[in-house]
Amino acid sequence: MGIRFGDGRDWFFEKRFGLFVHWGLYAIPAWHEQTLYRKGMTRDEYVPLVQQFNPVRFDPDAWLDLAEEAGMQYVCFTTKHIDGFCMWDTAQTDYNVMHTPYGRDVLGMLAEACHRRGFPLCLYYSVVDEHQPNYPNQGRSYELPGPVPGDEPNLDKYLAFVRAQVRELCTRYGEIHGFWWDANILAHRDPSVNAMIRELQPNAVINNRGFDEGDFGTPEREWDEEVRDLRAFERPIEACQSVGVESWGYKVDEDYYSDLYLIHSLDRTLAKGGNYLLNVGPKADGTIPEEAARILRAIGRWYQNVREALDGAEPASHLIDMRDVLFTRKGNTLYAHLPCAPTRNRLLLKPLDVLPRRVTLLNTGEPVEAVVDFLPSQHHEKREYLRLRNLPVNRLTDTVLVLKLEFDDLPL
Ligand code: GLC
Repeated sequence: MGIRFGDGRDWFFEKRFGLFVHWGLYAIPAWHEQTLYRKGMTRDEYVPLVQQFNPVRFDPDAWLDLAEEAGMQYVCFTTKHIDGFCMWDTAQTDYNVMHTPYGRDVLGMLAEACHRRGFPLCLYYSVVDEHQPNYPNQGRSYELPGPVPGDEPNLDKYLAFVRAQVRELCTRYGEIHGFWWDANILAHRDPSVNAMIRELQPNAVINNRGFDEGDFGTPEREWDEEVRDLRAFERPIEACQSVGVESWGYKVDEDYYSDLYLIHSLDRTLAKGGNYLLNVGPKADGTIPEEAARILRAIGRWYQNVREALDGAEPASHLIDMRDVLFTRKGNTLYAHLPCAPTRNRLLLKPLDVLPRRVTLLNTGEPVEAVVDFLPSQHHEKREYLRLRNLPVNRLTDTVLVLKLEFDDLPL
């Protein structure tokens, strides 16, 4: 077994594919979750959206049904993004969902559905707050250009507010499986806040974007070298990615990643031992956009065929001498994860030189031909190696191929 915490947080290594949900007032202008920061909208222009928030079609079970169809096993929900609007019945500010026409605690509804279904719930919380009068807005990333008339920037008071909100989130909604900090632009350090979360919610994993380094890293989208270049992660990781190219919240005319790109990204992250948090931005009515739902279902169809190569499997890419193919392992079974566009229809599995009992293409269940022989390209070593032949790389071009190699005794 690889890296473990050795306590209740280890659920994180069993359930490794999660649904990220960015939902808030920003679903109404339907442009980006950072509408104030990126579009230069003022607080006065944004706040009246409260009067329009009425997601009459919000059904947490529909979200979780879709997540399950995708093969996801936990959810992470934006309780408060940088706009400062709170999606729960908080006593710390009126700027919350109870004061909308909808008037219901959406976090409470989601938490109820999660607990009823045994579906772990993690909470996203932004440190930047474009609404709280005590937050010291100074025009840094995600912030307003400066305090608004009437604001009283005061970091101590703001941190007391954060602490009170975190306590609410960790005491009023039953078991919380994770706390997902974001946007600590202040670079504020204070391990006592995570210590409080740990005391109130001992099974919660905490990410590394809060007031200390937390439990796991959060490489984002395709920008991170750790995700791109490593063949196995050396620390707990949860890579995050959105189905939409531009925004995490709902965008009305969003551009989307291709199914193949997302499947490849999911496969590679899981095969390296990481977790994967894939985001959708529900619309203002509470439903998940059709294209986002279609993408999740397409991923689910792939995942359900190959998931035995990922669930409970250890990263094993160091065993085989190959650059663009990743490997995972369960005992004497080895799994090969092919790249998006394989360059050839064979795999040469150096240094293996024994025949597996059986080789199967998990995507379709079809058998794969295996031989051990001496190839011209190996003339320097004059050795035989295991070769898998006639892989259907020209027939199955719109998916990530995963092979299962069952050995009687894997000599590695
Ligand atoms: C990016 C976005 C932010 C989003 C976050 C999720 O940092 O700017 O809005 O919440 O990703 O990881």
